[in-house]
Amino acid sequence: MSKKVLVTGGAGYIGSHTVVELVKSGYDPVILDDYRNSDPSVLKRITQIIGYEPTHVVCDVCDQNRLEEIFKTYSISGVIHFAAYKAVGESVENPLKYYSNNIAGLVSVLNVLKQNPKVPFVFSSSCTVYGEPMGLKEVDENTAKSIPTSPYGYTKWLGEQIIGDLFISNNRLRMMSLRYFNPIGAHQSALIGELPVGKPNNLLPFITQTAAGIHEKLVIFGKDYPTVDGTCVRDYIHVVDLAEAHVKAIDHLLSLKNGCHEVVNVGTGKGTSVLELVHAFEEENNMKLNYTFGPKRSGDVIEIYANVDYAHSLLGWKATRDINDGVRDAWKWEKSIRNIQ
Ligand code: UD1
Repeated sequence: MSKKVLVTGGAGYIGSHTVVELVKSGYDPVILDDYRNSDPSVLKRITQIIGYEPTHVVCDVCDQNRLEEIFKTYSISGVIHFAAYKAVGESVENPLKYYSNNIAGLVSVLNVLKQNPKVPFVFSSSCTVYGEPMGLKEVDENTAKSIPTSPYGYTKWLGEQIIGDLFISNNRLRMMSLRYFNPIGAHQSALIGELPVGKPNNLLPFITQTAAGIHEKLVIFGKDYPTVDGTCVRDYIHVVDLAEAHVKAIDHLLSLKNGCHEVVNVGTGKGTSVLELVHAFEEENNMKLNYTFGPKRSGDVIEIYANVDYAHSLLGWKATRDINDGVRDAWKWEKSIRNIQ
């Protein structure tokens, strides 16, 4: 029988793609979501891709009693914990919303895991934990973590710390924190993708919405940074590659006899500037984008990309898609939800 993997936040952007990849690899995902930041229609879309309706439960991840019941009812063999808020700006305006949901949600899942120590656990962390890496552009997992620049960043920083502390108290637990770089793109079917609530903060959704005519122009934040062309550099990773990394993480943790808390970068290993991403979008989709330069955004890291050697050696995983795939799939998705031909 297929192993059941609980995917908290499984109706969200990265969660929904991971559900699809889990099915492709023979797992049986159980989606847990309360749709506060996602749309239940994603279930129909996942159904279209995988050919059956996935198991799904409506539950607030902070509800530990319900979580315990779900663990028992479905005999859960693995957990991937995505359910969390992720808007940096909003976290500055409303920090308690972030601390109460992101931290309490994690603690609630870990409390249940403690009673089921053989069940592997994968945590959505972020490269935000590196902050502005001192003099470095390429960061590996041993690069010192920095003081986060937002409450959102603190919830990821502290999340890793909590998991590490729990491991010290019980070294039978099998846990992995995946530090995502910048996820982009959508499933090639254009049935699932990113659905930002309100005005997007992230770059590629803003680009695709501008191309769709929802915004007049993209404002590029800063043009005189000490980078290849004056704009900030990030490591943009295709969401399907990222989803595949989660499956490899579960495969790996299930294969272990002993406990662990591994921390793994998930990126492509390649830096791309904002302008390079804009130009890739224009070339790949054969269109011009209206953009202008504006002031720097406060708190922006200048340049960061992943060293991905550990992901390769530990998980046998490497990104196989590039930014051209990402900008093409993101535009295909935007067109499909806006009914643009
Ligand atoms: C940051 C975090 C990331 C986190 C994400 C959550 C870092 C390095 N990254 O991503 O871990 O998951 O927030 O939202 O801390 N830009 C524009 N114009 C726009 C939008 C963005 O020029 O309208 C630029 C930004 O200045 C930045 C780049 O595009 O240089 C990427 O920005 P964004 O997509 O918001 O991601 P990060 O800030 O890198």
